[in-house]
Amino acid sequence: MMFGSKESKLKDGTPVTLRPMVKEDEESLYRFFLSLSDELLMFIRHNVRDRKVVREWSQNLDYERVLPLVALVDGEIVADATLHRVPHGWKRHIGRIRVVVSPRYQNQGMATLMLNELVELGHELGLEKLWAEIPLDSVGAIRACRNAGFACKAVIEELVKNAQNQNLDILIMVCDIASYFDRRWSQKT
Ligand SMILES: CC(C)(COP(=O)(O)OP(=O)(O)OC[C@H]1O[C@@H](n2cnc3c(N)ncnc32)[C@H](O)[C@@H]1OP(=O)(O)O)[C@@H](O)C(=O)NCCC(=O)NCCS
Repeated sequence: MMFGSKESKLKDGTPVTLRPMVKEDEESLYRFFLSLSDELLMFIRHNVRDRKVVREWSQNLDYERVLPLVALVDGEIVADATLHRVPHGWKRHIGRIRVVVSPRYQNQGMATLMLNELVELGHELGLEKLWAEIPLDSVGAIRACRNAGFACKAVIEELVKNAQNQNLDILIMVCDIASYFDRRWSQKT
């Protein structure tokens, strides 16, 4: 779906549109971030409750560096997944991903849909691997990544901090894009 838009449905039948973020999404993205709890915002490296941060992102979109994929229900952003790339060096074939889904739309296959799109986009962009860092206790995130072809690779104990200042274990999951696509192709034959 390279830079296109895709219509899909959640498990309960809710129609959802997935597409890369554009600068006109600023307001909707800001509202989405404001609706998230402190706990959910821990996954985002910037203070997205600051309007200026979201404006700066929207005005300076650079898909080569960060490709944000948004999910819309009734024209409002309800989930955001990003694919981060570095242009040079030994990680140039790796995309790092993160995904946040509004609590109202969780457990309906949204993260799975978005991760499947990111794997497809990663493939189209010529990436070889996608990398995800997931709290070890986040069953939904681990299952969504598994659904999209990621496998568990390592656990780093007590690596990150949650909103309550407690250290959490992080699970590294990697999707080997090339072999994942090969496998799907061979299953069809
Ligand atoms: C993790 C997160 C992205 C999952 O989003 P989601 O849209 O609920 O995910 P999905 O519905 O695709 O869930 C995948 C599977 O896990 C199940 N699942 C989801 N949440 C679950 C939970 N809390 N407990 C048990 N199972 C859960 C789903 O039913 C689904 O099952 P299936 O494989 O049988 O279809 C969402 O909970 C979130 O935004 N969490 C905070 C951010 C985060 O943890 N990000 C991960 C770091 S990248």
